[in-house]
Amino acid sequence: MTNKTDPSGDVRLTGIAKTYGAFTAVHPLDLTVPQGSFFALLGASGCGKTTTLRMIAGLEEPTRGTVHLGDQDVTALPPYKRPVNTVFQSYALFPHLNIFENVAFGLRRRGLKSVKKQVEEMLDLVQLGEQARKKPHQLSGGQQQRVAVARALINHPKVLLLDEPLGALDLKLRRQMQLELKRIQTEVGITFVHVTHDQEEAMTMADTVAVMNAGRVEQLGSPADLYENPRTTFVANFLGTSNFIEAEVDSKNGDEVVLKAGGGKLVLPASRCSAPAGTGGRVLVGVRPEKISLTHADDAGEIPVGRNRITGKIADSSFIGVSTQYVVDSPVCSDFEVYAQNIDRDPRLVPGAEVVLHWNPAHTFGLDAAQDADAGVEEAA
Ligand SMILES: Nc1ncnc2c1ncn2[C@@H]1O[C@H](COP(=O)(O)OP(=O)(O)OP(=O)(O)O)[C@@H](O)[C@H]1O
Ligand SMILES: [Mg+2]
Repeated sequence: MTNKTDPSGDVRLTGIAKTYGAFTAVHPLDLTVPQGSFFALLGASGCGKTTTLRMIAGLEEPTRGTVHLGDQDVTALPPYKRPVNTVFQSYALFPHLNIFENVAFGLRRRGLKSVKKQVEEMLDLVQLGEQARKKPHQLSGGQQQRVAVARALINHPKVLLLDEPLGALDLKLRRQMQLELKRIQTEVGITFVHVTHDQEEAMTMADTVAVMNAGRVEQLGSPADLYENPRTTFVANFLGTSNFIEAEVDSKNGDEVVLKAGGGKLVLPASRCSAPAGTGGRVLVGVRPEKISLTHADDAGEIPVGRNRITGKIADSSFIGVSTQYVVDSPVCSDFEVYAQNIDRDPRLVPGAEVVLHWNPAHTFGLDAAQDADAGVEEAA
């Protein structure tokens, strides 16, 4: 439908902010969402996602800053004059109209007489051609949700805003609809800005994710980049699980930072350390649970040299089929989480067993130790 190099569907926020009395819901924010991309605003309840979206739609007046769509400054335009449509969590279809008429609504309101071809194309896009004559209450939640998307897309917006559109669906349907929405976005090629508090949802669907925390974008990047290279403990904990060891910089050795933790040494690539890495500096050494191997202490001699290693004792284990999730108590970190893929299970790895945890130093990241290692843990739960 639209050309990916056409910049008219770019969303550009410049210094946009929203305060309610003394409370700041959104701190001054600069953000560009490129035309044709699937962008997610991710964060816990109350962090300012809906407020940001409503300022793009024109439903909320920014306290300061501007909104551009392509080259056009739309800050002063009312919602209906912006080439933007919104799908909300409660997508309230018109109950007395059938699906065809629900989708046709926007066209009829603009006085168009021959709507059949466009409506049918839209219904095909969301795979509801067969359901055209049904009333909304005769459809499943996921089907109703797709009607809401079709009803918005038929207006040919340059940007589609989605505010937790899958919130009312059960988990299985949610997963299905995530893939479905992604397919629709790829097919129509317009800019989608999707708001969610579900990290898996944001990662599955979006090209770019902005992680919001207390009215600010804490980090922005591709899902893989955010997961592998979090720059704050909040992002590291909000997107998946992270283990942190508090360590002290011992020396810098070429591209590597050598750290002291407990009695041992850990190695971290200098390029993955966002903390000041001068000797004596404090660093939170981070490693994801799936990057770690667990070896029974009796076999410690078999661990290849050059791996980061710490010792500990298994406190808990839960077998979940594809993997076993261990909680290990270590002198350098209590509650260390390790996910071991279910290939060959060592029957000795049970609670109480003494173990060595080891991983490739390249899989380590380093964060400034001045922040709370548990930031974002509660919010992600
Ligand atoms: N009209 C208002 N007056 C005062 N405070 C408001 C108003 N609207 C929103 N807020 C506050 O602004 C903050 C951000 O609200 P917002 O709706 O953007 O959060 P959200 O990230 O969408 O959260 P959720 O995931 O729960 O929908 C909240 O603390 C909220 O209480
Ligand atoms: Mg909201």
